[in-house]
Amino acid sequence: MVSIPSKAPRQSLTVIDNRTGQAYEVPITHNSVLATDIKKIKAPAGQDRAEDETEQGLRVYDPAYMNTAVITSRITYINGLDGILRYRGYPIQQLVKKSNFLETAYLLLYGELPTKSQYDNWNNEIMHHTFIHSDIENMFKTFRYDSHPMAMLSSAFATMGAFAPEANPSLAGQKLYTNAAKGDMEALKVLDKQILRIIGKAPTLAAASYRMRQGRPFNRPAQGLSYTGNFLYLLDYLSGHEYQPHPVLEKALDTLFILHADHEVNCSTATVLQVGSSLVDPYSVVAAGCSALYGPSHGGASESAIRMLMEIGSPENVPAFMEKVEKRERVLVGFGHRVYKNVDPRSTAIRELAEEVFEVTGRNKLLDTAMTLADYARKSEFMKSRNLYPNVDFFSGLIYQAMGIPLDVFPVLFAVPRCVGWLAHWRQMMLNPAGVKIWRPRQLYLGEGERDYVETADRKENPKASVFDAPVQVSHGGDSKRMELATYKDERGQTWGKSKL
Ligand SMILES: CC(C)(COP(=O)(O)OP(=O)(O)OC[C@H]1O[C@@H](n2cnc3c(N)ncnc32)[C@H](O)[C@@H]1OP(=O)(O)O)[C@@H](O)C(=O)NCCC(=O)NCCS
Repeated sequence: MVSIPSKAPRQSLTVIDNRTGQAYEVPITHNSVLATDIKKIKAPAGQDRAEDETEQGLRVYDPAYMNTAVITSRITYINGLDGILRYRGYPIQQLVKKSNFLETAYLLLYGELPTKSQYDNWNNEIMHHTFIHSDIENMFKTFRYDSHPMAMLSSAFATMGAFAPEANPSLAGQKLYTNAAKGDMEALKVLDKQILRIIGKAPTLAAASYRMRQGRPFNRPAQGLSYTGNFLYLLDYLSGHEYQPHPVLEKALDTLFILHADHEVNCSTATVLQVGSSLVDPYSVVAAGCSALYGPSHGGASESAIRMLMEIGSPENVPAFMEKVEKRERVLVGFGHRVYKNVDPRSTAIRELAEEVFEVTGRNKLLDTAMTLADYARKSEFMKSRNLYPNVDFFSGLIYQAMGIPLDVFPVLFAVPRCVGWLAHWRQMMLNPAGVKIWRPRQLYLGEGERDYVETADRKENPKASVFDAPVQVSHGGDSKRMELATYKDERGQTWGKSKL
């Protein structure tokens, strides 16, 4: 219990629990309160449900993490109201103008821009780690030719873990990575080696998923090219020698990689940290990140945005489409962001880049539709009142498409650079001097209270049950139908036919 503060401003909240009349002082640090301090606010169990566990302390309910900080970080800063994005303090616009992807990757991972010798060593190490085991190439070949490349890529990262048992805490010891925080140099070496391997091999795996889809043989990494130059080689090279990618496209890809390298604790990075908190190996961690990134609300949006523009077809169809958006029948893909309630600074940089690429590739035919849509959206009351502006995915797809990249490869092009952000956050977490606590959120349980098991004979269907309260009858393919009509004996000699199925 505390008294209400008088004059001097204190970095704290005074909370009075009206259930008990008790006052609590809750410290504020970095404009946040600790959820565990809120848990200290307790009331005796009263008329609440037992499952509310009132006497165990107040809980913080934040579905979809609308206002919850889950980690302290020194990597990326976003100010969504002012449209600011900085990596390790450097504004994204400066990095786009002056840096390159591998240098930015070093910055994100290790906190400072590398010196010349640090950069040369980093570049050599990454490019040295671009080769994949030929058995992983075989793994790709087990996929159907029309598999989504992200399905292949996430599987490939998980598979890579199987090729590095020494990097697997389940085999090599639970503290394999966390010991690094205590100054164990061997642990730090293992940790940083996996980072080199993942960043080095990501373009090779990404290109393999593309080449599988195209039905082309895989290329082996090329020496003497930049990270993105080698990636273009892996994607495109067919025959001949002394391959050089077009410098504008190489630079554009590098810029897109800088812009996509990190974005604070977004959906896939939160997934990476959640999965990483179990101390699983970093390959599984990155595979999980890929799965989160793949969704149409996240990294899948650039693919969906182009599909949407193709569906709209031409500028004159934009008003009708916007009507559907305003009636909430459709989502305007490539617009809106959880954090940016103003212009996404990445979309501004990408818009400029698009012009440079179109000079080389020719203008994307969907550009006019996209610009008309952006114009309508800018004037729409519905969009304005909800602070919905174009995000990074609205224009990136137009560039990828102009470069001749198939739509389903767009999220792959997002995943390659985002490996850097995922690993930067994973490394920071593993090196936390306070150790790694497993991430385990709670729920508010609203289900049935305790009840006794009912024997089958005594069960009745609930007349108020909705369609969601039992499995629906699913439809079967033609072969199942024919098997249903056939009769046959199973392995135990029992006869089956329609009557028994
Ligand atoms: C990115 C996104 C998932 C953020 O979601 P969020 O922070 O949970 O925002 P909400 O869903 O609460 O949106 C707030 C309001 O704007 C509307 N809204 C958000 N994005 C919208 C969009 N792209 N088109 C139409 N309406 C949208 C919501 O319907 C909601 O309206 P309401 O308040 O009347 O219910 C969401 O904006 C979206 O789905 N965008 C399209 C997909 C996309 O481009 N993703 C890439 C992000 S980089």
